[in-house]
Amino acid sequence: MRHRWRGKTGGAGDYRHRHTPFKGAEKRRCGKYRLHCPVHKKGNRRGGAYVKGFNSHGVIAVKDREITKADIARVIEAAQAITIPTDREVIHVIPQEYILDQQDCIQEPLGMTGTRLEAKVHIVTAAVASAQNIVKSVNRAGLAVADIVLQQIASSEAVLGQDEKDLGVALIDIGGGTTDIAMYHNGAIKHTAVISLGGNQITGDIAVGIRTPAEEAEKIKKKFGCCMTSMIDKNETIEVPSVGGRKPRVVSRQILGEIIEPRVEELFQLANQEITKSGYDNVIASGIVLTGGTAIMDGMVELAEQIFNLPVRRGLPTGIGGLVDVVRSPMYSTGVGLVLYGKKHSTTLVL
Ligand SMILES: Nc1ncnc2c1ncn2[C@@H]1O[C@H](COP(=O)(O)OP(=O)(O)OP(=O)(O)O)[C@@H](O)[C@H]1O
Ligand SMILES: [Mg+2]
Repeated sequence: MRHRWRGKTGGAGDYRHRHTPFKGAEKRRCGKYRLHCPVHKKGNRRGGAYVKGFNSHGVIAVKDREITKADIARVIEAAQAITIPTDREVIHVIPQEYILDQQDCIQEPLGMTGTRLEAKVHIVTAAVASAQNIVKSVNRAGLAVADIVLQQIASSEAVLGQDEKDLGVALIDIGGGTTDIAMYHNGAIKHTAVISLGGNQITGDIAVGIRTPAEEAEKIKKKFGCCMTSMIDKNETIEVPSVGGRKPRVVSRQILGEIIEPRVEELFQLANQEITKSGYDNVIASGIVLTGGTAIMDGMVELAEQIFNLPVRRGLPTGIGGLVDVVRSPMYSTGVGLVLYGKKHSTTLVL
């Protein structure tokens, strides 16, 4: 996929995502549709390798002592001077902080005076083929792709408060196929990761565990699912359709909980390992924010609090007007986040 941004300007923000209008063949192909559509990047359901996030840094000598936009662009460029395999492409380069001579934690160095400018950045790369497939799919639906945005970065826009990002927080977006993590501290993104486990596996477990078709298992999960058995009334029962034309059966809701709980526990333990591995586990004082469709399930916050031993809240999308009631669900965090991200980073998107 070709990036459509041109040049690099100063200031905080994602340097790979300065938009320019579509031109030439692209405009001819997509021009009749006015929607500029940021698309979220999915993780790899088979191994989490489609997207990878890591931190890097670059240093430059400042020519005229006063930091210009060109200096900031040069130091960001220097931070990207790393070998990236030919089958991967950079989708995000997000400045975390600048260090000018001995002074660190600078968010905006433009206009400051110094001799040695250092930038710390978070870089996200994606497999070229998977990015191309997403762009092709969207183009075939008659829409143009303005950007590819990592899911958890989009969700963070809609769900996390600036105070949480400053103090330190881990966003865990639990979707259908993957669980996507983004960690923030001092207002900057520090770590991103994708775990190949999500709500689809829970549905699969229910289908096998109570011998019901997958579509029924999905409905039962959404209606009666609870991942903490201790929260379920022991006398509560549910009617479950059987496979092969057999009669529906009555199953205890406790049994449903016993099927779901170990899978969610596994998921949180994997997320906890990822948070520990990041090295930022001691600085997420705001705790954990759960979002994504699977975070709707009863018991998620309570079980997460036990496993992470941190304060946990369920994150709903905010920062929008209009049909707020329709999208006020953790399921729409990425969608709302993409719109907010597009508004923040695009020079062409008008909302
Ligand atoms: N009320 C509910 N209770 C439990 N799970 C739910 C509920 N509503 C939706 N889900 C689950 O949420 C998942 C979908 O969430 P979401 O829309 O965030 O995923 P996605 O972003 O499309 O997937 P991915 O992040 O893997 O790409 C599905 O597994 C669905 O079963
Ligand atoms: Mg998702």
